Amino acid sequence: MNATPTSNALVLGIESSCDETAASVVRGGTEILSSIIHSQAQEHAEFGGVVPEIAGRSHLREVHRVIREALDEAGVAPTDLAAVAVTVQPGLIGSLLVGLSAAKGFAMRHNLPIVPVHHIHAHVWAATMELKTQAFPAIALVVSGGHTALYRATGPSDFTSLAHTLDDAAGEAFDKVAWILGLAYPGGPSISRLAQEGDPTAFRFPRYRPKALPNSRELGLERSLGFSFSGLKTAVLYHVRGQDALAPTPEPQDIPRRADVAASFQEAVVDALVTQTVDAAKREGLDRIFVGGGVACNARLRTKMAEAAEKAGKTAIFPSPAYCSDNAAMIAGLGWPLFEAGATADLTLDASPR
Ligand code: KG4
Ligand code: ZN
Repeated sequence: MNATPTSNALVLGIESSCDETAASVVRGGTEILSSIIHSQAQEHAEFGGVVPEIAGRSHLREVHRVIREALDEAGVAPTDLAAVAVTVQPGLIGSLLVGLSAAKGFAMRHNLPIVPVHHIHAHVWAATMELKTQAFPAIALVVSGGHTALYRATGPSDFTSLAHTLDDAAGEAFDKVAWILGLAYPGGPSISRLAQEGDPTAFRFPRYRPKALPNSRELGLERSLGFSFSGLKTAVLYHVRGQDALAPTPEPQDIPRRADVAASFQEAVVDALVTQTVDAAKREGLDRIFVGGGVACNARLRTKMAEAAEKAGKTAIFPSPAYCSDNAAMIAGLGWPLFEAGATADLTLDASPR
């Protein structure tokens, strides 16, 4: 192997789990020397969501160029690297395999160890990168297009699940409601832009929260933890189209008070996320809250989470917006403590959709 573990080790990260092909070089887990992202959003836009077949092909076309650019921009030669970190789960299997194969080829050619990285843990690492001190234990909320879950995180890759969505992920709900409202994909940015002109209290859309378990009451919580966004999405659909399931969805320009609907929908999602995250922090007796994933870009979520956390004597920490959605800096970053801990793999390493 080229290098022995040192706290300044340079790690190349490769990410291809969904619709971003990304590569990045990070020094010592937090210092980002480059972060190259090829977004496929345009290629999937007309379908209103990610098409796995298109994603896999696009990763194949872009992955080598993206890796080359990440090294060039960082001014780093392969011989300077200590390891190659790569997302191996969860994600679209065809997409994951493209990044994993590229990582294996690169590692073999340059005699480097491979570090397998869990995409969800990496989203949380992106938030910890904002801190200069010991990050764990903490509550972690991961909110993206594929995941909405709360964890107790005791180490960079040591997560216990506290709650997850029963149906749609929060980002998926943004994407579907954007479709209903005739807004562009990806839906999160479109809705949050329109919501700025709307009244978040205009319509009261449902906020799902499971009933209290016996131990929730003992801990002073009225309700248990868990997310569900499909009822909310349907409520918006009925609001826009009326109760007739066979009626066509109106043209975007004919939807009355579209900005108010967008703002009220966003408020319902944000409310569910904020209330339950702060409750989880109380229940687990933890003071720090990390939030990661594409939906963590949402300005309303950032403001309301910060306010609610502070009110409860907690601190909410978000990645800077560029590192909320899928990127490889979070992969290279988390690759560092894993590499230091000796969590490397050989060429038989496989990817997993779960
Ligand atoms: O983490 P990410 O890039 O990919 C996955 O791992 O899924 O998250 C993408 C999701 C999309 O559903 C997108 O609509 C949502 O994040 N998103 C947002 C915002 N920016 C992106 N949702 C709400 N508000 C935003 N500003
Ligand atoms: Zn993601």
